[in-house]
Amino acid sequence: MIDGKKVLFSGMQATGNLTLGNYLGALKNWVNLSDEYECFYSVVDMHSITVRQDPSELRQRARKLLTLYIAAGLDPKKNCIYYQSHVSGHAELAWILNCFTYMGELNRMTQFKDKAAKHADNINAGLFTYPVLMASDILLYQSDVVPVGKDQLQHLEITRDIAQRFNAIYGDIFTIPEPFMGKAGANIKSLQDPSKKMSKSDENTNASIYLMDDPDTVIRKFKRAVTDSEAQVRYCEEQPGIRNLIEIYCACTGKTPEETEKEFDGKGYGDFKLAVGESVADILKPLQARFEELSRDKAYIDNVIKENADKANYYAMKTLRKVQKKIGFPERIR
Ligand code: TRP
Repeated sequence: MIDGKKVLFSGMQATGNLTLGNYLGALKNWVNLSDEYECFYSVVDMHSITVRQDPSELRQRARKLLTLYIAAGLDPKKNCIYYQSHVSGHAELAWILNCFTYMGELNRMTQFKDKAAKHADNINAGLFTYPVLMASDILLYQSDVVPVGKDQLQHLEITRDIAQRFNAIYGDIFTIPEPFMGKAGANIKSLQDPSKKMSKSDENTNASIYLMDDPDTVIRKFKRAVTDSEAQVRYCEEQPGIRNLIEIYCACTGKTPEETEKEFDGKGYGDFKLAVGESVADILKPLQARFEELSRDKAYIDNVIKENADKANYYAMKTLRKVQKKIGFPERIR
């Protein structure tokens, strides 16, 4: 608890360009949580180096992502928006928690198995202990809730296990975090293969809408989106392509699937795809304008970076000092 509010933590990696899926599935919903929770939203750049990165590109992407958080509507006075690498407590706690995590547990992580298969030439120890760093992110702020996608639930589970194990030995040190299941964020799929989620690392650029895509590109990608064979705008399991487009349309317009079916009753896929494309272009336009405006204000962003790193650091150190003391590290002499 901070000032009577529950603590919420989440983060995104600065790798790849953010997609409509990231926005509708996560970022857009984060904005509504900042009144109810004390929120920490990190740009988790330390996680990014588990796969090889170009340094200047990583730096640029991290700054873009942080700026996008604000452009999406997160007020940096209410939400702690910061770079993970600016708070050394993440790495320090991660080391400690590594010593309370078993190889067998980490071996079971499906994301590790997937990434190891994908990056067979660079299966580094960081990739293996990635979930421990993530546990440190969450536990460092005594987080109560963590909004995450399905693919991260296993990492949240191991975070809870590590925290409970630690607490069983040393007393109630860590708050045990819960996955945040509030109003479920939209689960946006690839435009080229609706059985996969829309991903910023998809090699087929037609599969994803990037938040910086211009209106023509957005409309072209929706025209090319895979659909189904019923030739009807109907929200059902048998039409995964159309179903995905309906979900996108609803997330952008606030309409329900039933209203959408009615609206396009008797119309073909072509009309519908155009409408979806336009609804997406309409929500991206103000976001992009705000992003451009913020990007030009270097002093403002720099100030957010500094002030929020200080704030994050303050809470992180509180937890870290407690942990260090409990495990028997010598007291600092002042
Ligand atoms: N691993 C998460 C992802 O790739 C990002 C992340 C890092 C995260 N630390 C976190 C998410 C802590 C929630 C909480 O999506």
